[in-house]
Amino acid sequence: MRSHYCGHVDESLVDQEVELCGWMHRRRDHGGVIFVDLRDREGLVQVVFDPESPDSFLVAERVRSEYVLRVRGKVRYRPEGTENPDLPTGKVEVVGHDLEILNVAETPPFPLDEEHHEVGEDVRLRYRYMDLRRPHMYERLRLRAEIVRTLRHHLEARGFMEIETPMLTRSTPEGARDFLVPSRNHPGEFYALPQSPQLFKQLLMISGMERYYQVVRCFRDEDLRADRQPEFTQLDIEASFIDDQQLMQLMEDMIRTLFARVLEVPLPNPFPRMSHAEAVRRYGVDRPDLRIGLELTEVTDLMRTVDFKVFSGPANDPHGRVAALRLPGGGALTRKEIDDYTRYVGIYGAKGLAYIKVNERAAGREGLQSPILKFLPDEVIEEIMTRSGAEDGDLVFFGADKAHVVNEALGALRVKLGHDRGLVEYGWKPVWIVDFPMFEWDEDAQRWHALHHPFTRPRVESAEELEKAPGEAVSQAYDMVLNGTEIGGGSIRIHRPEVQEAVFRLLGIGDDEAREKFGFLLKALRYGCPPHGGIAFGLDRLVMLMCGAPSIREVIPFPKTQTANCLLTEAPSPTDDRQLRELGIRLRKPRDAASS
Ligand code: AMO
Ligand code: AMP
Repeated sequence: MRSHYCGHVDESLVDQEVELCGWMHRRRDHGGVIFVDLRDREGLVQVVFDPESPDSFLVAERVRSEYVLRVRGKVRYRPEGTENPDLPTGKVEVVGHDLEILNVAETPPFPLDEEHHEVGEDVRLRYRYMDLRRPHMYERLRLRAEIVRTLRHHLEARGFMEIETPMLTRSTPEGARDFLVPSRNHPGEFYALPQSPQLFKQLLMISGMERYYQVVRCFRDEDLRADRQPEFTQLDIEASFIDDQQLMQLMEDMIRTLFARVLEVPLPNPFPRMSHAEAVRRYGVDRPDLRIGLELTEVTDLMRTVDFKVFSGPANDPHGRVAALRLPGGGALTRKEIDDYTRYVGIYGAKGLAYIKVNERAAGREGLQSPILKFLPDEVIEEIMTRSGAEDGDLVFFGADKAHVVNEALGALRVKLGHDRGLVEYGWKPVWIVDFPMFEWDEDAQRWHALHHPFTRPRVESAEELEKAPGEAVSQAYDMVLNGTEIGGGSIRIHRPEVQEAVFRLLGIGDDEAREKFGFLLKALRYGCPPHGGIAFGLDRLVMLMCGAPSIREVIPFPKTQTANCLLTEAPSPTDDRQLRELGIRLRKPRDAASS
């Protein structure tokens, strides 16, 4: 129906006839002449209708926003002084002589012609098909497609093969809740939607596929955040006869190529690496944003004997930590700002946020200002100043609590201060986090918990060594972190059945349970499993970062809200009794209805 896209009409077409299709973006009546900006996927072009072609002029008078149009016309240079340098088509216009209305449209729920127009996310999601008409949304989806194409191309060229794995399957242990699907053929039984293809990709290695990848939807029923959706897409990868160093090398090459091709940005070669312990010690988190220079300073050892319970308590607790965070120029913070930051760390469970203002360091105690100064001896104060590198005009914050509370609170505060105080460097800072502990001790449940997943291989070779000191075992896992977001994670896997069984035992998964849940994997490991390992990238997160979008919802065409609803289709929704009966399901009444 068209000869060209609107966005492609330029000087090379002057004096030519073109046929265009698209949406009525904007219309201006200028004393007898009507200007229509016609929009399609590729951009906008100005079409002029004048009364000398009365047929099309009369139609042009009737068109409204978002009407679907087809135009025939001749391209000409715009009169001098009326060019639009902001538009690729801005030097020309089309003199329309045939105009056909292909379809009419109701008034749009929000204006589509102002890119930065603030529209509530609810309205955008309810009318997502309209939202996606906005050029910047099209651009995000286009970039997403380009990213996927580039990644696929890179992997295919290196012998990786895309293989599909089931969506109706058994529970996979990635640590979130499963989405369950009731079975009609087997009343009372359920499939789980995959949290990842983890077990299947390992089975594919046992099958000898050697190099697998898949762009694959995963499902996790967990609390949602800006970078989490209940269904999201992984670029999932697995390879055989490879060690962690080779795998990390291959993967960072892929990401470097991606950034070079799509964004024309060079990333460092190699990516820096940091142990999990160092990341937590210096940044409080295992996904440090290295664009922010602020770091935590260890002061636990200084606080064991101070006469201030808030600090000495955690300092003497084997699970406690006292850490400082120096904010350069922080002396300028107002009382109210400090109170706001105290409330902010409260979200992470911190019970307070002590601080020292450094007015004049050379003046010793007299040059400092703080409600906690009276509790701290001179030599402790001096050592805090030295370790944190505090200078005149700075402020030093303190966190004291269980280590995980201090780490989370100061880790989050560090990032917030970085953004609030303009301390975020421009650019891209990738880092590999390595040397994760195999297990974490869960105080509440009184048992070990796998830091990655239970198929991750420990550095120690034998099951006996592992069981002797599980708390000290380091895994062959790696996370790729970019600007403070975990974009991918993976590991070398256990390929010996006795090691896998030992890990299940340590995790409190008994033999019966292991056989019932993962028996097929344990069995498969006995039939000649090659050494193998892999990784999965969160594709939505990667695209979000590369687009500079504030949330993964902005790069998913039809996302769910924070409460896991689809506002467009109104899913989830109740179902009728007949369907439930077929599935052998009877709903329990909500508690208050039952009690009335
Ligand atoms: P993991 O659980 O670390 O590893 O997931 C891999 C990557 O997927 C992304 N991701 C998410 N993105 C959006 N919404 C979510 N709810 C969400 N959850 C995870 C993250 C994360 O780094 N099977 C292993 C991989 C392996 O070992 O090969 C796995 O799934 O970017
Ligand atoms: P208080 O003795 O409770 O008045 O606290 C004195 C100072 O220590 C205040 O600035 C509190 O914000 C701070 N504070 C209290 N508890 C903690 C904590 N767990 N970690 C860091 N600072 C704290």
